[in-house]
Amino acid sequence: MASDTSKRVAEAAGGAIARKTGTPVRRVSAKTAAAAEAALARATQRLPLDTIIAGDCVSAMNALPEASVDLIFADPPYNLQLKGDLHRPDNSKVDAVDDAWDRFDSFATYDRFTREWLAAARRVLKPNGAIWVIGSYHNIFRVGASLQDQGYWILNDVVWRKSNPMPNFRGKRLTNAHETMIWAARDEAGKYTFNYEAMKALNEGLQMRSDWVMPICSGHERIKGEDGAKAHPTQKPESLLHRIIVGCTKPGDVVLDPFFGTGTTGAVAKRLGRRWIGIEREAKYRDVAARRIAAVRKHDAADLEVTRAKRSEPRVPFGQLVERGMLKIGETLTSPNGRFAAKVRADGTLIAHDQRGSIHQVGAALEGAPSCNGWTYWHMTRDGKTVPIDMLRAVIRAEMAAQ
Ligand SMILES: C[S@@+](CC[C@H](N)C(=O)[O-])C[C@H]1O[C@@H](n2cnc3c(N)ncnc32)[C@H](O)[C@@H]1O
Repeated sequence: MASDTSKRVAEAAGGAIARKTGTPVRRVSAKTAAAAEAALARATQRLPLDTIIAGDCVSAMNALPEASVDLIFADPPYNLQLKGDLHRPDNSKVDAVDDAWDRFDSFATYDRFTREWLAAARRVLKPNGAIWVIGSYHNIFRVGASLQDQGYWILNDVVWRKSNPMPNFRGKRLTNAHETMIWAARDEAGKYTFNYEAMKALNEGLQMRSDWVMPICSGHERIKGEDGAKAHPTQKPESLLHRIIVGCTKPGDVVLDPFFGTGTTGAVAKRLGRRWIGIEREAKYRDVAARRIAAVRKHDAADLEVTRAKRSEPRVPFGQLVERGMLKIGETLTSPNGRFAAKVRADGTLIAHDQRGSIHQVGAALEGAPSCNGWTYWHMTRDGKTVPIDMLRAVIRAEMAAQ
């Protein structure tokens, strides 16, 4: 039997082909979907999971099986174009990124490199996969254009506002207090993972916004060498990766980081019960990352379950409650404050004075609101208590889950 996921995968792949060829998108057969699912499973089996690959990320990704990775987090070289040393007012030298891996002789060279690694990354992503790329004003606009040129579909850009940024020592420009992250799906039609409810829960019940305030990596989290110097100039905070991985993957998914550095992505992925692959050119960083990840303890599976998006739960039409006699025809439902009442009709609609329609439409009309979630708005009386009708939907969903 082909799963919903494999059907979506095959449909997404079909959609991409249809856009290129101009042929209409049609629903795929269960056989095609099953074949797509089997191909995905084979590709994932051939992955070097939970491993740091040594070498250049373009050739390393090109050697991996196609369509095998769920999420990519990439923190590529920034191409800072620093001209000489930077000093603080007390004349001490600023520990800036002046490493060889960040130097490109021109914008054209940087763009060529960006196109190459983004193409290699897109090849290894599953059709429903997605990518996050972090950068600063030095490179993120070039990366953004390249992403779009190559067929990725930008979903959001997120501003990581640093709560403790480095000041602008020369006082010639604004304090550079943020970095930008671009979140893009592999394809426009891709059904990328977004754990909406989990993100909302992380934000104390409010919809997660696209501006994230987090400190830069410092204190005990910052890895130092024996000489006390930073092990890596651009180690990212784990909090950033935590939010991305919780929000955009499921336990067991494969997360790839082509610019692994100190292995922040691997450390957080392991802790959260995801599989990871890192690629890093420099041996000294690979050593740091390997030691760091070995010390990470994976949390218990029960603690890692993400709050499921309501949309991913099976749809239950309100009419089913009437058909099954869970609500009686003619039964009165009331609004939360008891101000409005409506009667249940045989066809699964409600009627209240001159308003008739779905549970959502009638609720919205009575409240004069643009929309209304009828499941939580309408209440029924059971055992002398007023309870939301959503309880009946939960019963049906529990039955479905047990089948
Ligand atoms: C901006 S840093 C990533 C830091 C990392 N996110 C962390 O938290 O430690 C970029 C890293 O990519 C590596 N790198 C640069 N070019 C590379 C390439 N072509 N292939 C593989 N690694 C590369 C650099 O050695 C550097 O460690």
